[in-house]
Amino acid sequence: MLNTRLNCAIIDDDPQDARLVARYIDKASTGMWRADCFHTLDEGKDALASAEFDVALVDLHLGPDSGIQLVKEFDRKRGGTPIIMMSGAADVDIEDTALTLGAYDFLSKDNLDARTLRRAVNHVYSAHAIEEALRRSAELAQTSNEAKSSFMACMSHDLRTPLNAIIGFSDALLMAPEGTIREEVVREYSGYINQSGKHLLEIINTILDLSKIEQQEFELQKEWVDISELIELQLAVLRPVAENRNVTLNAMFRHNGELLLVDARAMRQMLTNLLSNAIKFNQSGKNVMVSTSLNNSGLEVRVSDEGCGMTGPELKLAMMPFGQVTNDPLLARQGTGLGLTIVQSLMEQHGGELTIDSRKGVGTSARMLFPSSCVSDDAIKVQA
Ligand SMILES: Nc1ncnc2c1ncn2[C@@H]1O[C@H](COP(=O)(O)OP(=O)(O)O)[C@@H](O)[C@H]1O
Ligand SMILES: [Mg+2]
Repeated sequence: MLNTRLNCAIIDDDPQDARLVARYIDKASTGMWRADCFHTLDEGKDALASAEFDVALVDLHLGPDSGIQLVKEFDRKRGGTPIIMMSGAADVDIEDTALTLGAYDFLSKDNLDARTLRRAVNHVYSAHAIEEALRRSAELAQTSNEAKSSFMACMSHDLRTPLNAIIGFSDALLMAPEGTIREEVVREYSGYINQSGKHLLEIINTILDLSKIEQQEFELQKEWVDISELIELQLAVLRPVAENRNVTLNAMFRHNGELLLVDARAMRQMLTNLLSNAIKFNQSGKNVMVSTSLNNSGLEVRVSDEGCGMTGPELKLAMMPFGQVTNDPLLARQGTGLGLTIVQSLMEQHGGELTIDSRKGVGTSARMLFPSSCVSDDAIKVQA
């Protein structure tokens, strides 16, 4: 710890005592630790609230106030600055009270020296770092647990909808007295059952893909890929779908033949997910544009459309697993609400990120940003 730069707050109403402790700190750390002195309870509160200090040394008596107040207010359970109490006179009861309330240590100013201070500050700093790490992992466990529960809740809803349709329509067929049901109705109901079954299969397959990706089982096989070529191929695959909706697909590359270090299969999957959204939520006669560009952080692949767009809260929902904004049931059934979640996961695995800008009624622009480490030197040279 002696090689770590620490900021110490000394909160002591006696300026002479405070200076002495500051000198010990300086000597104990051979100048590595910085000490700032504060002389009243209020100054002490401000100092601790600023969260600028790694350790605070607090005198028991602060004029008319008690340093214990600071221990109470900057609760150790919530990760406040760790406090070492100091007192002129040794008093076992007060020491016990201070330690029970959350002070990390208690030192008597009578026999204080640089060595004692060094040991105490080191111990307290380490103990606090360990507590913080534990607190953070407990918080993380809690949030992942909540995320898992909401995922399960959404998943059961999404599985139930097509299942209910399958059961409902097949019940109707089975229960109808013999000879009463017309052939065209049988066809219509079987169509619904077939559609719902396929939709269910798609949801289950997507969930399996996602869980593989999230459990890192989907190991990225990174290779240098000609990104403009890969995009052109993907556009060719989706062109019939776009033509069906009278949407035009365009591409604009920073330069042709640019190399990007990615998993080609993941890249195709991400492009498909973003392009199918851009086509599906677009309007007849409008355009979709895929473009690449280089900026300081890396290479950006952007998919933009001139479709229905989303408001801020709608976009938030869209980014959530199973989140679907559209109130067109036909469009909703053409997806699972997991497409963007998958792109987000895969981008994280590439060390990059997905960001989406959207304006209601104007359009949406999804950007996949790949870090500079995925961009070939040639690309950087061309930029320079
Ligand atoms: N380009 C877009 N324009 C408008 N809305 C979009 C766009 N992309 C996604 N959305 C909204 O976000 C939702 C979630 O998208 P996604 O995760 O790909 O799921 P889905 O399987 O429904 O396509 C979509 O259902 C849609 O409501
Ligand atoms: Mg989608």
